[in-house]
Amino acid sequence: MRYIVAITGASGAIYGIRLLEELPGEKHCIISDSGMKIMEFETEKDIAYLEKLAKVYRESEIESSFASGSFRFDAMVIAPASMNTVGKIAHGIADNLITRTASVALKERRRLVIVPRETPVSAIHLRNLTILAESGADIVLPAPAFYNRPKSVDDMVNFVIGRILDLLGIEHELYKRWEG
Ligand SMILES: Cc1cc2nc3c(=O)[nH]c(=O)nc-3n(C[C@H](O)[C@H](O)[C@H](O)COP(=O)(O)O)c2cc1C
Repeated sequence: MRYIVAITGASGAIYGIRLLEELPGEKHCIISDSGMKIMEFETEKDIAYLEKLAKVYRESEIESSFASGSFRFDAMVIAPASMNTVGKIAHGIADNLITRTASVALKERRRLVIVPRETPVSAIHLRNLTILAESGADIVLPAPAFYNRPKSVDDMVNFVIGRILDLLGIEHELYKRWEG
């Protein structure tokens, strides 16, 4: 399986990093310029670490294979997704490698999972997310559950990563399932 993980300039770079750590198969990572800055503010990780996990592309590498619909991939996950990137994809703007690849995923009917991060949200943000959901994207809110009594930030992040892996049909033991 071939996966693309995009990290944009929303808070929560850890979601993209943890996803790259957990995904099996062939992994590619596209990071936006803002995503790079925020990853460095928020985590101890840098691009060298991402390069150990995946082949890494910057948003300007529009000549990369993903920019063409003829290049096949199984799923793209944007985690975290900024409202800027959400708005652009929802309105057909494909001005960098992340927005172009997402546009390809939608037009080629490939799996596109979006993990939007903003709060509170405006009606514009909600409308843009609705457009994406109606266009076939899966929206995974980074909203951890509390019924499994998380003890750490890692537990809360793992819950969100586990729900993304569930959608992609990938086995994991990142969180304890509710069994009634
Ligand atoms: C510290 C910091 C945190 C930010 N967090 C968010 C956020 O959680 N969600 C969001 O939509 N934008 C957030 N932004 C704003 C985006 O980084 C900004 O809109 C940027 O243009 C997004 O670019 P991109 O979509 O190309 O990555 C944040 C900016 C900074 C500096």
